Amino acid sequence: MKPDPIIKIELNAVHKTFHTAQGSVAALDETSLKINTNEIVCIVGPSGCGKSTLLNLVAGFIAPSAGSVRVDGVPVRGPGADRAVVFQQDSIFPWLTVQQNLAYGPRARGLPNHEIQPIVDRLLALVGLTEYAELFPLQLSGGMKKRVDLARAYANKPAVLLMDEPFGALDVLTKEKMQLELLRLWQEEALTILFVTHDIEEALFIGDRVVVMTPRPARVAEDIAVPFTRELDPRRKTTAAFQQLRQGLMDTLSQSEAEPAA
Ligand SMILES: Nc1ncnc2c1ncn2[C@@H]1O[C@H](COP(=O)(O)OP(=O)(O)O)[C@@H](O)[C@H]1O
Ligand SMILES: [Mg+2]
Repeated sequence: MKPDPIIKIELNAVHKTFHTAQGSVAALDETSLKINTNEIVCIVGPSGCGKSTLLNLVAGFIAPSAGSVRVDGVPVRGPGADRAVVFQQDSIFPWLTVQQNLAYGPRARGLPNHEIQPIVDRLLALVGLTEYAELFPLQLSGGMKKRVDLARAYANKPAVLLMDEPFGALDVLTKEKMQLELLRLWQEEALTILFVTHDIEEALFIGDRVVVMTPRPARVAEDIAVPFTRELDPRRKTTAAFQQLRQGLMDTLSQSEAEPAA
């Protein structure tokens, strides 16, 4: 018997308004969302609708104007080591080698050297970079840098990965490899993933659920359970059922883009 899902992340009637010199911008309006432990939830929506805002709230970089954001039932008060963030732009240091980059987080946490090396070795193996440990980021391809970035995010064993269009700058083939890499990491480790993307195919390939947001101020327009088994085979994307679901989501999104943003 499957155990009951445990809610890992919960947004309850969240509003977020930004106040700037140019006036106020309502980014999120009554947004509610529950993400269970070990689930991968992908967020798609028109650009500027509030996807990054939602992710930044869970990361604790910003606070809601109203409503609540909870992780493990506890209100988020700021960033924490339990939640790692991966952006489109890599957060790796160009002047450090691959392994020095991976050692940085554990070292900053104050771990002694003899504990750091096994962590680094494991991270290298996890993302297939063992042979490249001594190289500098400049010597790596875009895909390899992204793998370092993913391993860097995972160095402190966060329970939650928050990913904001992480593969958006990669070419199609590299992107596909990274999607598989991420799913492999997720299968091996206990991870809950919130994944923002504008790529519907990516969302359907990676996600247990795909959440479609409305134009700004965003709320949840649709929350779809992806009905496919999670085989690590990109050919899954070419099946009729997959393409049908993709087209349906495209239609929903293009309809919502056509409406004027409030
Ligand atoms: N720090 C901020 N200050 C002012 N406005 C912001 C800030 N962050 C986001 N916004 C505005 O909130 C809206 C949603 O932004 P964002 O969440 O980045 O959208 P998305 O990630 O879906 O493209 C946009 O109109 C954006 O300009
Ligand atoms: Mg964004």
